[in-house]
Amino acid sequence: MNLTELNRVAEAMVAPGRGILAADESSGTIKKRFDAIGVENTEDNRRDYREMMFRTKEAMSKYVSGVILYDETIRQKAKDGTPLVKLIEQAGALPGIKVDKGTKPLPFCPGEVITEGLDGLRERLAEYRALGARFAKWRAVIDIGAGIPSHTAVKANAHALARYAALCQDAEIVPIVEPEVLMDGDHDADRCFSVSEWVLKTTFEELYYNRVALEGMVLKPNMAVAGKKSPNKASVEEVAEKTVRLLKACVPAAVPGIAFLSGGQSDEEATAHLDAMNKLGPLPWKLTFSYGRALQAAPQKAWAGKSENVAAAQRAFSHRARMNSLAARGEWKQDLEGKKAA
Ligand code: 13P
Repeated sequence: MNLTELNRVAEAMVAPGRGILAADESSGTIKKRFDAIGVENTEDNRRDYREMMFRTKEAMSKYVSGVILYDETIRQKAKDGTPLVKLIEQAGALPGIKVDKGTKPLPFCPGEVITEGLDGLRERLAEYRALGARFAKWRAVIDIGAGIPSHTAVKANAHALARYAALCQDAEIVPIVEPEVLMDGDHDADRCFSVSEWVLKTTFEELYYNRVALEGMVLKPNMAVAGKKSPNKASVEEVAEKTVRLLKACVPAAVPGIAFLSGGQSDEEATAHLDAMNKLGPLPWKLTFSYGRALQAAPQKAWAGKSENVAAAQRAFSHRARMNSLAARGEWKQDLEGKKAA
């Protein structure tokens, strides 16, 4: 393993004021996003949409360190024939790739899932690296409910994450380790804290047993938030305080950076939370964003599948990326939200 190079890439992914654009929606998931804006889910429309984002000069060259791609996208070419990977590289960002194959029901654990995709992963990683991927992502999903999560689900998902991470580092690819505790339930932020603590501690134990070098990875966790159906929503300050306390208790300082998922938070909430956490610094690791929905909701709405809307969509994307860049430095202010990029 070339740990110096893995560490260099991991540090670049969380460089000051930069974060990750999660554009790795499967063709099924992007359909849900396209349905909401009345766009047909065709290969060309998926290409046009992602080309619009990757050609957004301000966002891509100043605020985005890397882009997580889906299998189709890493092989796709822009309308003029340039590989989409090249557009990302030309902007100065790193291409990455989602390598998990989604979730399946976990046997004998009703309501719980296991992420699949380890079989053949070694070969797929070699191919993705040749296509330009410098980092990868694997998402484990843990739900909170009555009697769940189970020990079985926490352990099995952490083990799969660690197996994936070791295979990545062996292939000279930086793993993003994503154990997502969902915010779908009616639990409060304290329950999210205790489940996330269990999940993170188990994940780092499995990473250790699988000999993963922490200096060559990036963690992508949820924040400690209340479930969407909870009557007790936590304030921005509470979420920030709980999440930083959680991470300090669970994430070794050898990890270069933590890049959060947005997980269903509104885009401004996701920005406010990240900013409030960075204002609590100094911290042992970088804290930044690896947002999907919280970066893309605004540009999707502005674009709506029409070529005449590309410039407006790019402005919306740059604005959101700039707000999150400021939050990654703890320099965001709510009143900046009104000032859209020119
Ligand atoms: P969201 O920010 O929309 O949660 O997506 C991030 C991601 O990559 C989930 O795996």
